[in-house]
Amino acid sequence: MKLLLLGPPGAGKGTQADFISTEFAIPQISTGNIFRENIKNNTVLGIKIQEYMNAGQLVPDELAIDLVENRLEQEDTKEGYLLDGFPRTIKQAEALAKIITLDAVLELKIEDEVIVQRLAERFFHKESGRTYHTQYNPPKKSGFDDVTNEPLVQREDDKEATVLSRLDVYHKQTEPLVNFYQNPAHSKKYFVIKADDSIADIRKQILKICQNI
Ligand code: AP5
Repeated sequence: MKLLLLGPPGAGKGTQADFISTEFAIPQISTGNIFRENIKNNTVLGIKIQEYMNAGQLVPDELAIDLVENRLEQEDTKEGYLLDGFPRTIKQAEALAKIITLDAVLELKIEDEVIVQRLAERFFHKESGRTYHTQYNPPKKSGFDDVTNEPLVQREDDKEATVLSRLDVYHKQTEPLVNFYQNPAHSKKYFVIKADDSIADIRKQILKICQNI
């Protein structure tokens, strides 16, 4: 099963990707997580992309495409995978289309106003990337990771002004993918999911969809 979760920043892609990946035993390929890991480890790639990410801009297409092409050659992708955060531009989507046709795209649809409020209260565990929300997905102990008990932090790009830039980038550069993937030549199926329902309700809808792909 080759899936893509498409949606604006804060739509809940990472939250649902964790669940899908576990439930269907396929790897989650999150370009955002891989980029953050590179920044944390101060790699050559991390140094190149840090400024783009902190400003809420996309990193250059070539870097994202190279990264995903290499990742899709790894053995654990043979039975399928879930793409989260890639492709994000038509150029990236065209590069991916040269390699595969997706089985399904799941679009998480949500208003910008809800996103700004959501991201203001998102916290994450830097080592693992586990994500929480103070109201909707709180950790067992406020401010600390459930698994390691280490302190949670906010993402550099979750400041309100940066979130607004990310939304602008989404509407201009990523939203055209909605039309692109409604074409069956690029994805066999296309589903739209209301992303302002509860995390549990969205999970149930995704489960039903994925069981029938
Ligand atoms: P990336 O890490 O991909 O970020 P994003 O797409 O902006 O998405 P987010 O991680 O912010 O949100 P999400 O949809 O995963 O929401 P989450 O589940 O956390 O990319 C970051 C940056 O990397 C980009 O800006 C760019 O610079 C670069 N980049 C990455 N990929 C790239 C590419 N392909 N090309 C170029 N550049 C690239 O949920 C958000 C919060 O809401 C959480 O607190 C969660 O607990 C809560 N929540 C989730 N669902 C619900 C719900 N239903 N109700 C209430 N709360 C909810």
